[in-house]
Amino acid sequence: RHCFTKSDDGYLYCEGLRVQDVMETAVERSPFYLYSKPQINRNFEAYREALEGLNSIIGYAIKANNNLKILEHLRMLGCGAVLVSGNELRLALKAGFDPKRCIFNGNGKLLEDLVLAAHEGVFVNIDSEFDLDNIAYAARIAGKKVNVLLRINPDVDPQVHAYVATGNKNSKFGIRNEKLQWFLDAVKAHPDELKLVGAHCHLGSTITKVDIFRDAAVLMVNYIDQIRDQGFEIDYLNIGGGLGIDYYHTGAVLPTPRDLIDTVRELVLSRDLNLIIEPGRSLIANTCCLVNRVTGVKTNGTKNFIVIDGSMSELIRPSLYGAYQHIELVSPSLPDAEISTFDVVGPVCESADFLGKDRELPTPERGAGLVVHDAGAYCMSMASTYNLKMRPPEYWLKVMRHDHVSNLGLLRFIVIIFPFLSVDLALAQ
Ligand code: LLP
Repeated sequence: RHCFTKSDDGYLYCEGLRVQDVMETAVERSPFYLYSKPQINRNFEAYREALEGLNSIIGYAIKANNNLKILEHLRMLGCGAVLVSGNELRLALKAGFDPKRCIFNGNGKLLEDLVLAAHEGVFVNIDSEFDLDNIAYAARIAGKKVNVLLRINPDVDPQVHAYVATGNKNSKFGIRNEKLQWFLDAVKAHPDELKLVGAHCHLGSTITKVDIFRDAAVLMVNYIDQIRDQGFEIDYLNIGGGLGIDYYHTGAVLPTPRDLIDTVRELVLSRDLNLIIEPGRSLIANTCCLVNRVTGVKTNGTKNFIVIDGSMSELIRPSLYGAYQHIELVSPSLPDAEISTFDVVGPVCESADFLGKDRELPTPERGAGLVVHDAGAYCMSMASTYNLKMRPPEYWLKVMRHDHVSNLGLLRFIVIIFPFLSVDLALAQ
């Protein structure tokens, strides 16, 4: 089941509550993000069940969504965390993540952040020659030996948009296998600072074929064999994140967490490895909509536009990657509303400011609610204040209702209207 459903009455529901009613009750104006906490639980449960029988860490990729409440909840469910900046590390610590289940990753980690990582005892990925130097130096400053993984770039094509492909040979991330021996020798040269515990790869994001993960895992296990042959006792295989989701809402059958884990399970067991996975999108994207209001409708040349109050400032994926996110109205349209093809655009002074292109929709009335689906990952976390738009509030529905009955009194009780905290900038100090 999924949290957002369009029912026969033409209303969009989130966990049994009309989104229209949430809009009327929300203390803040649109646009706002609306999450379903039960959907977060269901998504996590899919990973937990898939991993049964394996030693594993689910390292949630904080960059996908760094809302503190969500982080605390995922930590409470049992997630570790994947971090790519000092502030993400500080936020993870604030959210209570166990440092032994955190992985600090990135191609440009700063020395001061590595010192914090060393001090806290998180896993650190080695990404390059200079990164190895910095990690060893940070270990000396912190007076702690750092558990490191080698991020190997396996050159497997993830078959995704070039901006979110990371594991091909010309990528800025990771090290190439030709250099493996250099890195092993360099780790050996730092016995007091570095303990090699595993190998990591991350191919890219929005991957929709599990064979791609399998191909990478086969290569990675070969590298692990080579590394073990040199006397390193390494236990961790980290296959990164990247599982895609059904952005198109076509009902196409996409691989599930179980499909992903099953494709590498035997390999992992055959080498007695701990498996680390780093999901972001597949844990959080489909738990959320960006809720907007229609400001008006206009036509220019051959184009029809629905102008909404949300924009590329709140949700930049369509502008940046040409990403498709499904759009629909939250309430039934008038019986005589004409269905046309619209570009759904925001008020920002850029022609790149669109949320959807060429969408068939009934002509909405002014003030109508319109949602952009699958907005839980890389939407709020990539939001800006361009054109001095305010960062949108985030709400979540904490419980699910089983019947589709709208009742404002009950709604106030059930919908916890929760302006979430975003990253506390004071953390940066
Ligand atoms: N691990 C590493 C090392 C990563 O670089 C990423 C994402 C993940 C895990 C999580 O990947 P996921 O499971 O979320 O696909 N802004 C883009 C996505 C960038 C992904 C960057 N790395 C978007 O909006 O589609």
